[in-house]
Parts: sequence; C-alpha cells; structure tokens
Amino acid sequence: MGPTARDFPSGFLFGAATSAHQVEGGNDGCDWWAWERRGGAKDPSGAACDHYRRYPEDIALVKELGLGSYRFSVEWARVEPEEGRFDEGALRHYRDMVERCRELGVEPIVTFHHFTLPTWLSDRGGVLARDSSRLFARYCRTVAEALKGRVTWVLTINEPMVLVLMGYVQGVWPPGKRPASQVIKAARRLVSWHEEAFAAIRQVDPAMRLGIAKHWIDFRPLDAGDAMHRLGRRLQHQLFNRWYLDRVKSHCDFIGINYYARQYTTGLLRQVPLATPDAPRTEMGWSIVPEGLHLALTEASGYGLPLIVTENGIACRDDRWRIRYIDRHLAAVHEAIAAGADVRGYQYWSLLDNFEWAEGYRPQFGLVAVDLGTQKRTVRESARHYGEIARTGRLPDAID
Ligand code: GAL
Repeated sequence: MGPTARDFPSGFLFGAATSAHQVEGGNDGCDWWAWERRGGAKDPSGAACDHYRRYPEDIALVKELGLGSYRFSVEWARVEPEEGRFDEGALRHYRDMVERCRELGVEPIVTFHHFTLPTWLSDRGGVLARDSSRLFARYCRTVAEALKGRVTWVLTINEPMVLVLMGYVQGVWPPGKRPASQVIKAARRLVSWHEEAFAAIRQVDPAMRLGIAKHWIDFRPLDAGDAMHRLGRRLQHQLFNRWYLDRVKSHCDFIGINYYARQYTTGLLRQVPLATPDAPRTEMGWSIVPEGLHLALTEASGYGLPLIVTENGIACRDDRWRIRYIDRHLAAVHEAIAAGADVRGYQYWSLLDNFEWAEGYRPQFGLVAVDLGTQKRTVRESARHYGEIARTGRLPDAID
C-alpha cells in the first residue's frame, strides 16, 4: 500500500465518545441510579468523572489531542426531572457543551437517549408505558429546540437492541428480566420512539441529520459444517443486527455503527463470544476481530445511507493493546471506504475511563485515564497515537 492509499477522505471525523450517565456524576434522577442502589452494578456511578462540571476541560482535551469530533449524550432525567417540567438550566448546560465544541472547532455528535430513563417514567412502565413514544418525542423536541442551528449529527437512541437484550431478556440492566411478550413489545416500542422523535426533531430543525447508534455483532457459526450453528447465525444476525434497522431506515439520514466483537453461534439463540484460539480477548472477554468492523460497514452500506462508526473501543490494562486495537480497526474502516462504503467518521469508545454499567468502574476503555479519587486526567499514549492519526488523516505506516 503506497502512502496515499493510507489517507482517509478529507473531513473524516476522528473523535471520541461518552454518554451522560457514564461520566457526568450525581445523575440521581434516572432509573440506573436506583438500579445501582439495589445492587445492580459492581460499583455505584456516584460522582463518575464529574464531567457535568468538568466538560470545558474535557472538550479542550479532545481538541488538544487533535480529534475533530466529540460524541456525548443529553440526560433526559436532568432535562425533564418531573413529567412535563423542563429544566432550563439543564438545557442551557447541553447548549453550552455544544458551544464549547463549536468554539474549539470540535464537531458535536449528540445522542438523545443512551440507556437511562427518568425515574418518573421508569416508575410507570418505562419504555412499555402506554404513552412513552409521545413522551420521548416531546423530550426530543425540547432538546432540539435548545440545540437548534448548532448541531448537525444527532442520534435519537443508542443501541436499542442492547437495551432490550440486557434489560428485558437477560435482566442484568433495568428494568430487569421480562416475559417474551414484553421483550417484543419493548423492541417494537423503540421503533416508534425513533419514528416519532424523527418527526418531532425534523419539524424543529430540518438541518439536523438524524440517525440511530446500532450495535452490530459479527455473528459467525462456530462450526460452519453444523446446520444449527449456521441457522443460529442467520437468525441472530437478522434479529439483532437487521430487524431494527430494517424498520427505521426510512427515518434515518445516516446510521451509526457501534462495533466491538465477533460472536460464534452454536444454536438458534445461543452464542459464545470466542471460539478461535488465535483471536485475543479484551478485559470484557470480547474477541478482537477488526475484520468484523469491515464486514459490518460493508453490509450496513446496503441501506444506502452514510455511516459513522459511533463506537469502537477496548477495555484493557496494557495501553499497547489499545494502540494496536485502534490501528487495526481504523485499517478495517479504511478498507471498507476503499471498497465503496460511505463512512464519515470514527468515534473511539471512550474518551474517559468511566462507569461501565453493571461492570462498574473496573473496565478501562479510556483514551484518558481518570483517577476517581482526585478526578485527575492522564492522557494515555494511545490517545497521542490516535490524535496523530486524526491530525494527519492517515493510517500509520506500520500496523502491528
Ligand atoms: C456500548 C455502550 C456504551 C459502552 C460500551 C462499552 O454497548 O453504548 O455505553 O458501555 O458499550 O461496553
């Protein structure tokens, strides 16, 4: 590959991502806070990274590293602490975050829903509450009004199928395990959440480009010679990767792809995270298969919409793993672009070490380490390395 063959298209958004509950701290009005108090996470989120107060420095860090975009989320529980009462201070806060990005030349990518719900809504059924789509659309309209004219890229919902899987099927996240009929209802409801939010936001600001952050798993049959393994692959791929997108694609201006791992199917709804002895695993136990990102982008291209990798990252102790992970996954993105995929950006997960849901604070995904006692930020070598790629818009000459 010659040097120019390593360049990304100009304007490609190299960035980093976070979500409100995982970094802000003190987010006591949401269902996750209550879930943590009932022992649902290894650590409570507590003060997290104190990002609600420290965002000006954190966004400055994004800039300093050489990154061009920052994906973050708006917290519904702060914006609407009681049903129908919108908090001007919270809305101003998120507007200020966007302004901070703008003044530094960092492109904001804003998620309106990233797993958490205000407790007033979860108390009366959450996603399954009869009028939850209307309530979500009203909240989105209010946020859109506050951010109007200042934001281009908006994700209505982060990983709807992960929410259904972890919350309703496995029950390790709120609201807790539910019968199959409610699982299906929740998935369908999240389709109408997006559709209604899309219409509401579009009305307020037609210039906002709206999408979904869709978690994509590279399913493979464990034994390609086994018919059940193959059937399992087809079914899981269809249900998990495609079902939701097939329904919302006509209400999207772009698709966000969150990719982490390959999983091997061993039955209709069964899978194992790792099967090949040569695929190393992250601290989360996820297999590292950059090729899966290439395949995801190539297939998702079939929807005919621009794509952004809205999450991809590794939890590890040895930062050299992160460098290798980023290089290899960016190379996979680059290959997908070379093969014709319209990929506009890549957001590494995560900017900061943060609250990893049920796993608490142990997994470290951050480009930047955070000392939870002092809130001191320490830039990792991988962040500098990634920043250099972002600044030059070019893959490193040697990828190990
Ligand atoms: C995603 C999720 C993020 C983060 C990440 C790492 O599924 O959107 O919030 O937790 O996984 O596990």
